[in-house]
Amino acid sequence: MKVKNICCIGAGYVGGPTMAVIAQKNPNINVTVVDLNEKRIAAWNDDNLDNLPVYEPGLDAVVGESRGRNLFFSTAVDAAIDAADMIFISVNTPTKTYGVGKGMAADLKYIELCARQIARVSKSDKIIVEKSTLPVRTAEAVKNILDNTGNGVKYQILSNPEFLAEGTAVEDLQAPDRVLIGGEQTPEGLEAIQALVDVYASWVPKAQIITTNLWSSELSKLTANAFLAQRVSSINALSELCEVTGANVDEVANAIGKDSRIGPKFLKASVGFGGSCFQKDILNLVYIAKSYGLDAVADYWEQVIIMNDHQKHRFAANMVRTMYNTVSGKKLAFLGWAFKKDTNDTRESAAIYVADKLIDEQANVVVYDPKVTDQQMYSDLDYLQTRSSEANQNALTVENDPYKALEGAHAIAVLTEWDEFKTYDWQRIYDNMHKPAFVFDGRSLLDKSALEQVGFQVYVIGQ
Ligand code: NAD
Ligand code: UGA
Repeated sequence: MKVKNICCIGAGYVGGPTMAVIAQKNPNINVTVVDLNEKRIAAWNDDNLDNLPVYEPGLDAVVGESRGRNLFFSTAVDAAIDAADMIFISVNTPTKTYGVGKGMAADLKYIELCARQIARVSKSDKIIVEKSTLPVRTAEAVKNILDNTGNGVKYQILSNPEFLAEGTAVEDLQAPDRVLIGGEQTPEGLEAIQALVDVYASWVPKAQIITTNLWSSELSKLTANAFLAQRVSSINALSELCEVTGANVDEVANAIGKDSRIGPKFLKASVGFGGSCFQKDILNLVYIAKSYGLDAVADYWEQVIIMNDHQKHRFAANMVRTMYNTVSGKKLAFLGWAFKKDTNDTRESAAIYVADKLIDEQANVVVYDPKVTDQQMYSDLDYLQTRSSEANQNALTVENDPYKALEGAHAIAVLTEWDEFKTYDWQRIYDNMHKPAFVFDGRSLLDKSALEQVGFQVYVIGQ
């Protein structure tokens, strides 16, 4: 079968960019991305492409090319479901914050709502594609809900997890390392798999499109993230050892990474990994392992998270210790709030936890980030529920001008590796700070010896 109408439920960091590229590469397929969030859809439809709700380099051009031609953003969820022959589910699957599995299991309420909505609205046969990251065997539950509505519509469920990383989403989508499609190994299942293979084959070489059974596909996504996060926690564990032994973690990473079996990528020591997926997906993996009674497996993967929490706390504690064991009343300037460069996403960003710790120590935190709004920063802090919103408002200030943010500060913490930080006039910054002036570089982004020559006292993670 040839797919003509695609609907994607969820216009977030995955749904928006993924559908924009599918539409760009398949001008003959109509792609409608729907969301309950009216503000988000309005932003996707904004005439000014600078106002798209997701910041990704190159995304404006891709959306600009197809929007209004075969790419549409809408809040009319039922109509889009009805018209589609293939429906992607790309809604959020956050960690549960209540009940059984609280703080660990994936919250599947949005997925279930989508399945029920599809079941209620559909009048013709459909292929349902799980794009969200899900626990292994979720497709079984989705199928169960869909098949028990009694209206005679036939569904095929596919798993097609997304591997894009934020900040490089467009590149990752246009030239993916691989596309993974899992489906039932029946004639109908294989036909559905082929229909989705054909969508991707418009631009992805066939050899890079992997097809598997449903459970392998679902589990591969969670474990791919776990393996990546494990590398960051491994190098971060070494960063602490480097600091006490005089080794330099960047040099160690370079030496390790030269072994082609290990490779150089994803070995950058940092203040800790953030983002919406690593923590949530590993916790979910831990939960799944536990629920099968595999405690040793669960403990093994949980250690990746424990190491990551330790790294964030260690960074904040080191700031306090270095500044004579008190930061009370001191102005501490943050460069960066996003969880990595080239994105406006802040979910689970290390900056949030570092700020929270320093505010506990009564510091005045001032933040500059080129793409994150002040409302977002306050809502990130409020989400931790450490103190009242009012107290967070008093403790944290947001500046739109980096030089203003750094003026009169006792210390600077580099928490996101935005390229523009490297281009600043560091002499001017030094001149306008309290002395001694400290830089705590959580990303080993800046040139340490150049900063030391200016007069800064510099701490770089892992050095
Ligand atoms: P997101 O929160 O940015 O977007 C999800 C959207 O779904 C929201 O806009 C929300 O309003 C909408 N939504 C929820 N329920 C809905 C419903 N019933 N009907 C219509 N809209 C609904 O999340 P995201 O970052 O795009 O992640 C989506 C999924 O993709 C998650 O499972 C995540 O783990 C996975 N994933 C994310 C990334 C990433 O880099 N962010 C990468 C790979 C996979
Ligand atoms: C990650 C994966 O890389 C994607 O393949 C996956 O699709 C996605 O999760 C997901 O499932 O959501 P993302 O979280 O967007 O992508 O960003 P990454 O580039 O993986 O970075 C995650 C965190 O690790 C960031 O805070 C980053 O700064 C940190 N990191 C990454 C390091 O500290 N060191 C590194 O060497 C690499």
